[in-house]
Amino acid sequence: RWQLAAQDTDFKKDERFARVCRAIEAGELVAVPTETVYGLAADATNGQACARIYEAKGRPQFNPLISHVESLEAARRHGIFTADAERLADAFWPGPLTLVLPRAGSSTVSQLATAGLETIAIRVPNAPFMQALAEATGKPLAAPSANLSGRISGTTADDVAHDLEPHLAFLIDTGPTSVGVESTIISLVGDQPTLLRPGGIAREEIEAVLNTRLVSAGTNDSAPAAPGMMSSHYAPCSSVRLNVTEVHQGEALITLGTALPAGAEKASQRFNLSAEGNLREAASNLFIALRQADKATQVGIAVAPIPATGLGEAINDRLLRAAAPR
Ligand code: TXA
Ligand code: MG
Repeated sequence: RWQLAAQDTDFKKDERFARVCRAIEAGELVAVPTETVYGLAADATNGQACARIYEAKGRPQFNPLISHVESLEAARRHGIFTADAERLADAFWPGPLTLVLPRAGSSTVSQLATAGLETIAIRVPNAPFMQALAEATGKPLAAPSANLSGRISGTTADDVAHDLEPHLAFLIDTGPTSVGVESTIISLVGDQPTLLRPGGIAREEIEAVLNTRLVSAGTNDSAPAAPGMMSSHYAPCSSVRLNVTEVHQGEALITLGTALPAGAEKASQRFNLSAEGNLREAASNLFIALRQADKATQVGIAVAPIPATGLGEAINDRLLRAAAPR
């Protein structure tokens, strides 16, 4: 485990950085933080390295990985950028936005990373270490969220170690991630820009840049638009009840703002995602609260209503999946 500050850029001089680069080049797995969640990173051009990712997470191989690169220029080698793609990259990269694009003929990303699709998911994360690692190795980095498949995403190094430690050559620890939910995924493959996954950039911000409404991909388990968008995901061990207006004895309670549901005193423990009711702060605390609530109850997790605007769309999306029948 290598601890450093999130915005530190001196790490390149540390001899450990060269070792991390060598681990990637050797096809090993490295847990690397991004601004959204921790990623389980490997060389996206190396099929065996990508196979290790699927194996470590217990992830089905039909569920493709996002390739992380250091710049728009690097991204252009792998995806075909339409005018809308250029606009979005300009507005939001580096940042929590993933673009699904037709795969470029020049892309060296392995078929395993894209699950054999003709499309590719790419992003430039706002995370100095991940960027430097992609740049120094010259490799796009395949990195799904660093958690066991179907479980709660890891936003701290401890969460990552808990789920994946034996599989890691290195764990880069920059503390809790700032955004706290995964990137927003937009597909620019079909006729209309489509929101495949709400995430760290609100739908409203993207619609303002594109000057059009985003189509939403429906939830359909037999043919999910993003193959990873199964209705059950982010699952804690405990059951989850949403939009709770009355708390049951012994439940762990998750709230937002100052309002409390009836019977809040019966909760075994309470977690407030944001005392001020700020949805950005709430998103950054969501997965931490879910993991802690899960430990704090034998009965179940009760979640008070969360508004669906701005980052609330991503929060509600994750909560719906956490609460879905498994
Ligand atoms: O914030 C994030 O996006 C984090 C950090 C580490 O960058 N990564 C992440 O990866 O959330 P993952 O693997 O947990 O989720 C990636 C999602 C999956 O639902 C997958 O199905 C979808 O992206 N995806 C990947 N390639 C795709 C493609 N070509 N077409 C449609 N969906 C794709
Ligand atoms: Mg994930």
